[in-house]
This record gives sequence, C-alpha cells and structure tokens, in this order.
Amino acid sequence: MLNKKITDLLNDQINKELYSAYLYLDMSTFYLGKHLYGFASWFKKQAVEETEHADKMISYLAQEGAPVELKDVAHAGKSYKDLKEPLAFQLEHEMYVTSLINKIYDAADEANDRRTAHFLDWFIDEQTEEEKTAAMLLEKFNLLAGDNRGLYELDAELGKR
Ligand code: FEO
Repeated sequence: MLNKKITDLLNDQINKELYSAYLYLDMSTFYLGKHLYGFASWFKKQAVEETEHADKMISYLAQEGAPVELKDVAHAGKSYKDLKEPLAFQLEHEMYVTSLINKIYDAADEANDRRTAHFLDWFIDEQTEEEKTAAMLLEKFNLLAGDNRGLYELDAELGKR
C-alpha cells in the first residue's frame, strides 16, 4: 500500500507529465507556424510520449489501489523569440522533471517503499535519455549557426523520428 506522501507526489507528477505534453504540443504548434514540419512532428511525438508517462503512473496507482486524481493542467502557451528558444527550454524543462522524479524516489526510499522505487527506475532511465536527446538537439541547432541549408536538413532529419 502506498503512503499518502507518495500517492500525492505521483498524482502531482501525472499533472506535470500532462503539462509537459501540453508544453511540447505548444512548441510543435510554434514550429508549424514557421513551416518547419520536421521540428513540429518531432515535438508532437514528444507530447505523445509525455501522455504515455502520465498513463504509466495512472496504471501504477490503480494497480496499487491508490486514488488517481486528475488535476487542471496549466496553460502552456509561451511566446518564443526565435527558433532556438523552445529547444533550450526543453532541456531546462527536462532537467526540472528529472529533479521531480528524484524527489519521488527519495520519498520512496525514506518510506522503504521498494516497489515504488523499482517502478521509478524506468523513469530515471527515461529522464537520462530525455535530457541527452534535448541537449543533442540544442547542440545540433547551435552548430548550424544560422545556416539555412543546415536548418532544412535538420528539419528533414527530425521529421523521420
Ligand atoms: Fe516525462 Fe519528458 O518527461
């Protein structure tokens, strides 16, 4: 049985994952507006992944007989000043999500809740991957240094994801 603190943290995290989906959908829309369809598609797939993360947590709570609480998802619409800003913000956001997962892990550790800690192992690996991918994308973009042909190629590459 999950304790209240872990149940609450997991419910908060479901909301954060759904916010992440909303945020990436917003970024996808931003790139759609710039006719960068590869970038748009890449962020749309990222948004779908985030809903899957939320779904894993919902299933875990349900499996443990704990209450699932779906809260309001915050407004994610941002205005980006250039093509790079969403990429930099994605990395920052993923680092924040990692810190949240670590907090739940710490709470599970404190409560001697090995099952939740084991469940979170998947998310710890996933966050390593997400941070790495976000950093790589930002780095690739920086290497372009305003080269339009390179931008076109990166867009085509991202569209293949
Ligand atoms: Fe579900 Fe991108 O963290």
